[in-house]
Amino acid sequence: MIVDLLKDLVRAMGRYIRYHTTRIFNRKQEVRMDTSRRPASPADPAVATPALIETLSNQPGLDAAYERLVQWPPYRENGPAQEVLSDSLYQMWTTLPRGHKWTHYFGIYQTVFGPHRTEPLRILEIGVFGGSSLRLWKKYFSHADTVIVGIDIEPECIQFDAPADGIRVRIGSQADPTFLKSVVREFGPFDLIIDDGSHHSSHMIASFNHLYAEGLKDSGIYLAEDLHANYWLPWRDSRRSFLDMCKELMEHMHGHYQRASLAAFKVGTSGQPMSVLEVPLITTMIKEIRVFDSIAVIYKTRREYIPYYLQTAD
Ligand SMILES: C[S@@+](CC[C@H](N)C(=O)[O-])C[C@H]1O[C@@H](n2cnc3c(N)ncnc32)[C@H](O)[C@@H]1O
Repeated sequence: MIVDLLKDLVRAMGRYIRYHTTRIFNRKQEVRMDTSRRPASPADPAVATPALIETLSNQPGLDAAYERLVQWPPYRENGPAQEVLSDSLYQMWTTLPRGHKWTHYFGIYQTVFGPHRTEPLRILEIGVFGGSSLRLWKKYFSHADTVIVGIDIEPECIQFDAPADGIRVRIGSQADPTFLKSVVREFGPFDLIIDDGSHHSSHMIASFNHLYAEGLKDSGIYLAEDLHANYWLPWRDSRRSFLDMCKELMEHMHGHYQRASLAAFKVGTSGQPMSVLEVPLITTMIKEIRVFDSIAVIYKTRREYIPYYLQTAD
């Protein structure tokens, strides 16, 4: 009885917090809107709507020739490729205990993280295990003020909490919004978020949903790894994989083109003000999505401008 009452109370508090967070976040978005501009016509006749697309030719996509089966690789080698062996981050990682990683990730980390290596960063890594990657990031990112925060569901991971070294650890689930909020409140918002946690599809998607808007800075980078686990059991535990969600993000990144056609993007040239479009919130928050073998990287931004189409003189 008392337990049920407590559960109801916790649920009501969750709803209250969610309601106010959304309200505050939406208000921030509204303030930025210039309502003096003309809204785009809600029914732009040149937009290919989903209903219209349904009626078009059902032409197959990729040519079947690309899908014919081949023997791969043409030769077999034991151990990582030469380019991995000569990678400085891989070499650094091999000196640290209790690591387990796919060796092709190091080149990807260098590509994505390299440009930010010397900046003072707040980094969140989901999945601590033996503390290997926390130590790796602390060595790799060279700024003295950089803080690496690890979260893990296993209580013993708290042993890697080392405030004096700029490494912090908190215990909880990556799928628990209340826990994630408390981590963001304590250490965030973050410049980089790395998901190397449970690799369950439902958890990966939940973490992204709970962290992307409030937990990641506007210029932040969200990197999710081991996407291949979503092809395997027991990690695939939801209909959508993380990669499926990335495909949704790619579509949403182009949300403005789904609501207005070319004329809306070049009206400025004829002296008319640019249209205001109604787009999903996420359309205004994605700069770039990169997909590598088993790693997806979502670059966040606050898109202040709709792309502008311009023609120079003939
Ligand atoms: C692949 S290991 C992390 C390895 C670490 N990043 C490294 O490279 O050294 C995955 C970790 O995720 C943790 N984990 C599993 N389920 C989790 C969950 N729901 N929330 C947070 N962490 C979880 C596991 O306890 C495990 O320590």
